[in-house]
Amino acid sequence: MNIETARDKLIVALDLPSVADARAMVATLGDAASFYKIGMELTYAGGLPLARELVASGKKVFLDLKLHDIPNTVARATAQVAELGAAFLTIHAYPQTMKAARSALGGSPMQLLAVTVLTSYDEADLVAAGYAFGVKEMVARRAAQARDAGVHGIVLSPEELAAMRALLGPDMLLVTPGVRPAGADLGDQKRVMTPGRAIAAGANHLVVGRPITQATDPRASVIAIVEEIAGAA
Ligand code: C5P
Repeated sequence: MNIETARDKLIVALDLPSVADARAMVATLGDAASFYKIGMELTYAGGLPLARELVASGKKVFLDLKLHDIPNTVARATAQVAELGAAFLTIHAYPQTMKAARSALGGSPMQLLAVTVLTSYDEADLVAAGYAFGVKEMVARRAAQARDAGVHGIVLSPEELAAMRALLGPDMLLVTPGVRPAGADLGDQKRVMTPGRAIAAGANHLVVGRPITQATDPRASVIAIVEEIAGAA
């Protein structure tokens, strides 16, 4: 794979405390990175104008907002995010929510990613929340519902890549966090995969935060990950 294609597969998670810090990180990475994830924390700290700014400068933006509400509200919020120029938006994988978000896209090129079951949930948490299925069943059920609702992809952990690619077929986008270059600090990630292995296992995009943002040389870290992705496929 060429370097430009590989670069677009790496999504840098801008998990930083302020827009000023995020803007400084984007400047440090320069043309080495092309795709950024802005999550809830930065969004509520003024991250939406930064998203517009990144789009205007030619970067792609993944807004990790995990929308879930009544269909009318989800549809109207989705339309607003599409208008910002985001490339990806996350929504929770409830059928009503997914259908509402999908219906609001119109001609927008924005793609929807469903969050099936939050990875902080185990079997006991699902029972406590009133669900009748275990984690594995719930993930598979919701992933199939996402595909059937016309949602473009799902967010998943690296260890689920092979099973989900087999279940969902070649067209769904599989986007995975929990990626660590060999030898990197794991942080709080428990089940990790290297960038090369995650791509080889079927991931379309990798979300990487701290191994880049906490590195002594963030740009060098991005370049090494992109080279590993390019070499993997
Ligand atoms: O710093 P690190 O590379 O672990 O960041 C991973 C990013 O992916 C963070 O923004 C985190 O919130 C997100 N994420 C995750 N695990 C999930 C879902 C999202 O690490 N199950």
